[in-house]
Order: sequence, then C-alpha cells, then structure tokens
Amino acid sequence: MNFEFTEEQLMIKQAAGDYARRELIKDVIERDTNAIFPTQHVKNLAELGFFGMMVDPKYGGGGMDTISYVLALEEISKIDSSLAVIMSVHNSLACYGIEKYGNEAQKEKYLPDLASGNKIGAFLLSEPEAGSDATMQRTTAEDKGDHYLVNGTKNWITSADSASVYLVLAQSNSEKKHHGINALILDKNTPGISLGPHEDKMGMRSSDTHSVMFTDVKVPKENRIGEDGFGFKFAMKLLEGGRIGIASQAMGIAAGALDLSINYSKERKAFGTEISNHQAIAFKMSDMAVKIENARNLCLKAAWLKDNGKSYSLAGAMAKQYAADIAMEVTTEAVQIHGGYGYVKEYHVERLFREAKLTQIYEGTSEIQKIVISRTILKD
Ligand code: CAA
Repeated sequence: MNFEFTEEQLMIKQAAGDYARRELIKDVIERDTNAIFPTQHVKNLAELGFFGMMVDPKYGGGGMDTISYVLALEEISKIDSSLAVIMSVHNSLACYGIEKYGNEAQKEKYLPDLASGNKIGAFLLSEPEAGSDATMQRTTAEDKGDHYLVNGTKNWITSADSASVYLVLAQSNSEKKHHGINALILDKNTPGISLGPHEDKMGMRSSDTHSVMFTDVKVPKENRIGEDGFGFKFAMKLLEGGRIGIASQAMGIAAGALDLSINYSKERKAFGTEISNHQAIAFKMSDMAVKIENARNLCLKAAWLKDNGKSYSLAGAMAKQYAADIAMEVTTEAVQIHGGYGYVKEYHVERLFREAKLTQIYEGTSEIQKIVISRTILKD
C-alpha cells in the first residue's frame, strides 16, 4: 500500500485550496444568503481545469485521476460546498457519463464544451414520484422513428438553469419496466423545455435547483446513450462514481467545520483559558478528527479502486453513507463548540451544518447506500 500522494495530486489539492481560501470565502455568505449562482467562480475554476478534471485531454479535459478529484472537492467543500456540488454533478455525472458511455460523435460534440466549462452539465433522474425508487420513471420518451418525443417532469435538478447540457432519463417502454428506460442527451434550449421556480433550499443555496418540465420535446435518436433500454443501468453506473464526489463533498464540509472549530477554540477564552484547553472541547475535536480521517480514507479508497479499474460500487456507497452521516455529526459539534457564535452566519459553521444535511439526501439517501452495501455484503 502507498499512502503518499503524487506531486501532481498535491499541486491540484493546493490549487483548489488556494482558490477556495482566497476567492470563495469572500462572497460565500452573501451568495448563500441571497441564493446567487457562482457564475464567475465557475468560470475561474474552469480556467484552472476543475470542470473537466478527469476528461481525456484529447477532448479538452485535464486527464486527472479520481484521487485528485477527491482532494480538490475536499478543499472546495471546506469553504463552499454549493460550488462543490456544481463541480461534482458536472464532472462525475455529465462529463463521465458522456465520456464513458457515449459514442464517438457524442463525445466530440459535447465533451470539449463541457471539459472547458463553457457549458455546464446536469443529470435529470429524480421525479416528483421517483426519488429513491428510481425505476419508477414517469417521464416518457416515445419512440417516433427517427426521434423521441419527451414529456414529463424532473425534480430537484442541480444546475437546472445554469446547465446547457442535460442527461435525461425517460421511459420508452413501460411494459419492460426499468429495461425500457433510455438516457438521452438534450440541449437545454430545445423547444418544449421549461423550468419551475428556483427552489428555496435550506443549504447549498448558491447552487441552482429547479424542476424541469418537458412538453413534446423532440430529441433525435442519435442523442440516445447506449442501446435501447440502457438508461437505468447507465444511471446506476454513473451514480456509483457520483457518490464518490458527494462523499468527498461531505467529508470536506466536515473538515472545514473542524478547521473553524480548531481556530475558534484557540482564540475563545472561558474560565480563564482558551477553550481548546478544556477537555470537553478538545475531546470533541479529537472525535471529529477521527471521523473525518475515516471518511477521507473511504473516499480515497473508492477513488483508487476506480482509477485502477476495479469495482468501486461498494466502496463508493460506504464512503457516501459514512461521510454524509459524520458530516452531520461533525458540523453539529462545530456549532456547539462555537456556542452562540455558531448560530450566526458570520462564523460559517451554521452554513456548513445546513449544507451537511443535503449530503445525506441526494445522490442516494444514507438509507439507499445501506441498501447497496447490505445487498453487496449479503450476496455471497
Ligand atoms: N450498476 C449496474 N447495474 C445496476 C446497479 C449498478 N450499480 N445497481 C442496480 N443495477 C441494475 C440491476 O442489476 C438490475 O438489473 P436487471 O433487472 O437487469 O437484473 C436493475 O438495475 C434493477 O436493480 P435493483 O433490482 O437492485 O433495483 P432497485 O429498484 O431495488 O433499486 C437502488 C436499486 C440502488 C435502490 C436504486 O434505485 C437507487 O440507487 N436509488 C437511488 C437513486 C438516486 O441515487 N438518486 C439520486 C438522484 S441524482 C442526484 O441527486 C444528483 C444531484 O443533483 C446531486
């Protein structure tokens, strides 16, 4: 085993961390309060190569590995996890989905713009009545010979407004149940697509989330990914990798909360000394550090398995479930350590606490991860 990072991986971590500490911190509270999409930061991070990180350089990507991706997401999430979810959905779902499962024409058409960050990608699986039970797709993609006609509604779509490239899951043959689902690439400006209002979320408020409605949207057959009926497997495969991204985000939120707690506890005095000298506080931070280290190792192991062509479904689910759950625990303790200051915006930990909650919900709830984990370990 080798626990050392390469020089390149460390440089990527440094670059992401520098940007987050120097730039994201400046307006993160304002963007959170007013739910402002970080347009300029997305542009800047794209220029630094973070919006097509793992895409093959021949399509304009950075050709980086998944370990680097985990390191970058941790650094960004410490400061601004809204930005991290935009990055995660774009890299792990949109870019990876087209690069891994698209045909050559689709890759050439879509990847250069996605990899340069000129266009943002979104993944449209969830529906008003199909969240955890993703097989129950009601959005239809009716086969009309040379094209599909798409009708229906998608819910909770990350980057719905800011994205230009949609990966949409829709049912083409309900008799075949999930084997009838197709995955289609759509340009957001195709006639018949409309958005619901901006969701007023508890956290991750600077990422834009909407429902998306399709009314007789014509999609050429050539925009289907894979064989007819491949859509559900496609979605499941993508989510295996997506969960590494969200796990890294959750772990980064927790790591950010610990950093803030350490700094605060060394400044704040109570009973004649810095509160870090009180065991009640120091032991909290000790527990937080152990949990974060465990989560980090699970994320890195899942990433390593992916980079080395091994199965990472189980490791990704474990990383996602554990990191999301400890992010909630760690941020709760961070608010507690900050006392009253933890309950106001200026000290950041209340935001991290709100953001942590979503990591237990999206890209498969913690309970869904337990389904994946338990089914896998009970299989043999
Ligand atoms: N890879 C490939 N195929 C898979 C798979 C995987 N990881 N997991 C399941 N499948 C296949 C199965 O082999 C099976 O295929 P066959 O019928 O051909 O044998 C088929 O899919 C159905 O599998 P299951 O019977 O296991 O399906 P299930 O209904 O019991 O559910 C589930 C499986 C894991 C619970 C799945 O429904 C699931 O992951 N649900 C959660 C959905 C989710 O994560 N949504 C997140 C939305 S995206 C998002 O949040 C993005 C964002 O904006 C942040």
